[in-house]
Amino acid sequence: MSHPTAAPPVIRLEGVHKSFRLPNGDAFDAVRRTTLEVHEGDVFGLVGQSGAGKSTLLRLINLLERPDAGRVFVAGRELTALSRAELRAARQQIGMIFQQFNLVQNATVFDNVAFPLRIHGKHDRAETEARVRECLALVGLSEKVDSYPAQLSGGQKQRVAIARALAPRPQVLLCDEPTSALDSETTRALLQQLREINHQLGVTIVIVTHELPVVQALCRHVAILEKGQVVEQFAVDGPVAARKTGLGQEIDALVRQRTRETNERQQQAAAPVPLREVAHA
Ligand SMILES: Nc1ncnc2c1ncn2[C@@H]1O[C@H](COP(=O)(O)OP(=O)(O)OP(=O)(O)O)[C@@H](O)[C@H]1O
Ligand SMILES: [Mg+2]
Repeated sequence: MSHPTAAPPVIRLEGVHKSFRLPNGDAFDAVRRTTLEVHEGDVFGLVGQSGAGKSTLLRLINLLERPDAGRVFVAGRELTALSRAELRAARQQIGMIFQQFNLVQNATVFDNVAFPLRIHGKHDRAETEARVRECLALVGLSEKVDSYPAQLSGGQKQRVAIARALAPRPQVLLCDEPTSALDSETTRALLQQLREINHQLGVTIVIVTHELPVVQALCRHVAILEKGQVVEQFAVDGPVAARKTGLGQEIDALVRQRTRETNERQQQAAAPVPLREVAHA
């Protein structure tokens, strides 16, 4: 895929391969020899059927899954070549949020967000407190600082998870189906939040989703996975082209429909009001 700058990608997966051992002893190839690049500031979608390998591919980016073959580069470092301690430090560059939020239930919102700062031990109390409050303000949850996860709505829990992921100032945010446990209104608000984070902080976002409207609303690039391989990738609102996959065609159709709707709205807003209507107003 071409890119306007010659800057190296912020994420590069190079021939990564991951198999799992099945109960009957067979190996199952969840991700097969895949190469993928994501550029700085992008919002990159990973879509595909259930079992296509989306989550596994995402988890290879921060080495939650270690590839059996291939190399992983993030923010200029080869993660697959680092020692455990070095990897722990490098992971500060990579935040992650999940479908089920994964908050610590018996810890307050403050302590959840402070967690990644404390385990790293690089920040003193005052710094930690300031950063936690900054991140909660960013996601609009300052007043929930002393609440427990059980006292929050789904959308609020996901915002806490975002604040926690952003606390160490990562360059990359990995999102695994972050809206699939949320209703459509809350999904819209959360997508807006992710857009702002991408715009304001320049954080590169990689998002796994099976909801094509999420791709249409948020992503600039998308890769379609089938059986552990990327079968197609393109710029979401790039030039219309023949798409290889049904999912690719569906994303295109959604993008074109939204563009038409936006154009119609703009034309209506710009149309002169007929004199007759003014007279009766
Ligand atoms: N730890 C594991 N052990 C064995 N098989 C696994 C493991 N994790 C994933 N798999 C298998 O690898 C394949 C890809 O799984 P993955 O979770 O990446 O799919 P996915 O595209 O995220 O699917 P979904 O949309 O359902 O979340 C699936 O067939 C899955 O059963
Ligand atoms: Mg998954």
